[in-house]
Parts: sequence; structure tokens; C-alpha cells
Amino acid sequence: MKKILVTGGLGYIGSHTVVELQNSGFEVIIIDNLSNSSLNVLEGITSITKKPPVFERLDLRIKADVIDFFQRHENIAGVIHFAASKAVGESVAQPLYYYENNISTLIYLLQECKAHSINNFIFSSSCTVYGEPDSLPITEEAPVKKATSPYGNTKQISEEILEDTCSVHPQFRCIALRYFNPIGAHDSAMIGELPVGVPQNLVPFITQTAAGVRKELAIFGNDYNTSDGSCIRDYIHVVDLAKAHVVALERLLKKANASNFEIFNVGTGKGTSVLEIVEAFEAVSELKLPYRIVERRPGDVVSVYADTTKANEILEWKAERSLKDALSSAWKWEQHIRNL
Ligand code: NAD
Ligand code: UD1
Repeated sequence: MKKILVTGGLGYIGSHTVVELQNSGFEVIIIDNLSNSSLNVLEGITSITKKPPVFERLDLRIKADVIDFFQRHENIAGVIHFAASKAVGESVAQPLYYYENNISTLIYLLQECKAHSINNFIFSSSCTVYGEPDSLPITEEAPVKKATSPYGNTKQISEEILEDTCSVHPQFRCIALRYFNPIGAHDSAMIGELPVGVPQNLVPFITQTAAGVRKELAIFGNDYNTSDGSCIRDYIHVVDLAKAHVVALERLLKKANASNFEIFNVGTGKGTSVLEIVEAFEAVSELKLPYRIVERRPGDVVSVYADTTKANEILEWKAERSLKDALSSAWKWEQHIRNL
């Protein structure tokens, strides 16, 4: 059984990926500092897979602890690095916190990978690196635009760090996955997204509104140049996204990679507007969602969705779950955590 380190493995995408890794026969060690997660997630994972993953509460910003971790754990075959802070608005208010948490942690991990000859590395990147695209759907060849937030900049800088590292260590293999908009939860409703405080992202805000926790959804603008005036995104079921990590990891472990730094878009290839999401949510929940149209949100791109040809053909991975599946799993999860 190959041993895989998953940083941020108690977070939203990390926890779903841990489940898919365990179900594919990998042994998983999780590092998480619980800054945006809780120990209950470990129970949720275990209730699905029946195999408790090894867990270490550790802050990756503390270099000495990272060094110590790798001295204590031998034979790690690969690393999937999710741990980071991800709130765009917060990153504008606290840039140094974001640069430290998202960049120093990557550097410490890479230094230890090098020291211990761990040569397979998957990185969580984001479609945010494309900014406002010049053409749609976006391929991996589209230019990386100047980031509109420190958070987005950390993803760009991280990709550069990885590319530079790969260029001088040919034995080191890395795949950066550029996620589009992950939504939904595990079908079991044992794990899902747990936003702290008021959700900034659309789907958790919708499910909390439906659960009566929020009064109404504010839709940020209906005067964009899109079919119905609201913004368009590529919403991908988190379980499909989790599976993409397993496939990418297997590619690296088999040394089937075409170059030692590869980038893949991970989305569905379909663009959906905010109003279409509301309509689809109302259909799956059989509820009327209270909403009103408000001002545009500063920094929002108008329309972004992936060209997934590269992942489809090279990784032989494709998003399989529908938007309806994703929204109904998100709603089931919200009902589970609210005891509805
Ligand atoms: P999340 O906040 O749910 O998970 C991140 C986990 O990392 C949390 O459990 C947190 O406690 C942990 N963590 C943070 N800093 C840490 C540190 N210094 N040491 C140890 N653990 C630490 O976020 P997520 O949505 O699962 O995102 C995972 C990754 O994917 C992040 O890198 C994020 O930037 C990236 N990403 C997310 C999205 C999205 O929409 N959710 C989109 C694109 C990219
Ligand atoms: C944002 C970030 C992205 C990050 C991702 C995960 C920007 C420009 N992008 O994506 O880098 O990886 O979050 O943290 O900030 N919406 C509403 N009402 C709401 C919430 C959202 O109308 O209450 C709309 C937004 O205007 C947007 C869509 O819903 O059009 C999706 O928003 P959101 O879930 O926040 O994701 P992104 O902005 O696409």
C-alpha cells in the first residue's frame, strides 16, 4: 500500500480526496492545523471508509515541525498539498498572513520532499490564475493574468515555485490542478463544506438560506454581458474533483507524466449562471429561495469555464456528476449538519 501525505486533509476538498484515496487502496497520512476544519471531519471520513487515516495536528508554517514530521514518517510515496487559506476578501485585508500561510508552507514541504527523495507532488491551484479570460472555454495555454487578490497571487507564485523546482530537479514530478468552482458533498452526507461564519461562496450561502440560517441570498449583479445578466462559472462536484487527484497521483507514481511539471484544468467544461444555479437548487430542494439582486461584487470575473480536453484525454478523467447531483448533495449535507 503506497503511503500518501495529504496536507489540509480535513478541509473541504482534502477530506473528499482522502476518501477517494483510501477507497483506491492508498494509505493516507493527514496533516492539518484545524485552522479551517475540525476533528469531526476525521470521524466523517472514517465512517465512510471504515479506515481511520493517520492524522497529525501540525502547522506547516513551523519549519521545525515539518522537518520533524518527515523524520518520523518514512516511505511517503507522494504528497497532495491542499493546506492553504482561501478567502479572497480576507487575503486583501491580511496579505502577509496569506503569503506566509500559502507560500512558506509550500517551500518547507518542498525542501523536505527534496531531502527525503519524495518525488510525486500534487498542488491545489485555481482558475483564478486566468483572471478575466480573453476567450472561452479556457485552456491551460491561456495567459496567467495579474492577480486581483493576494490569494490569487499566492496560487500564481506557488505555480512558479513548483515550475522552478521541477526545472532543476528532473526526478521531481509535480502536477498543478487548476480547480474551477467545487461544490457539493459526499453522497453519504458524512463530509461536506463547513464554512466558518458567513459563507462567501455561492452554494453554501444558498443552502444556509434554504435552511433558514440566512434571510436571503444576495445575487451580485444581473447586468453583466451574459445570457441572463448574472455571472457564469464552472461548478464541479467535489467528488469528481477528488477523483481527479487520484488519477493525477497515479500518473505520477507510474511516471507516465509527459514533463515533470504539468498543469490541468479541473472543471466540467460547462458554464452556469448564478440565476441558473438558483433555479436548479429550487428544483432539487423543492423550495423557493428568497433572493434579491444587489450591486456587482468588486473583483468578480464575468464568465469563466474550463476547456477540459487536456484532463479528459491525458488524465482520462472526466467530471461525471451533474449539477443537480452536486446541488442535492450540498442540500443533503446542510440538512445533516443542521439536524433538519
Ligand atoms: P479548506 O479551508 O476547507 O481546507 C484547507 C485545510 O488546510 C483546512 O482544513 C485548514 O485547517 C488546513 N490548513 C490551512 N493552513 C494550514 C497550515 N498552515 N498547516 C496545516 N494545515 C493548514 O479549503 P478547500 O476548499 O478544501 O481548499 C483546498 C485547497 O484548494 C486550497 O489550497 C485552496 O486554495 C484550493 N482551492 C480551493 C477552491 C475552492 O473553491 N474551495 C478553488 C480553487 C482552489
Ligand atoms: C472565488 C474566487 C476564487 C476562489 C474561490 C474559492 C474571486 C474572483 N474568485 O470564486 O479565486 O478560488 O472563490 O474560494 O473571488 N455570488 C452571489 N452571491 C453570493 C456569493 C456568490 O451572487 O452570496 C456569485 C458571485 O458573484 C459569482 C458566483 O456566485 O458570480 C460564484 O461565487 P463564489 O462561490 O464566491 O466563487 P468565485 O467568485 O467564482
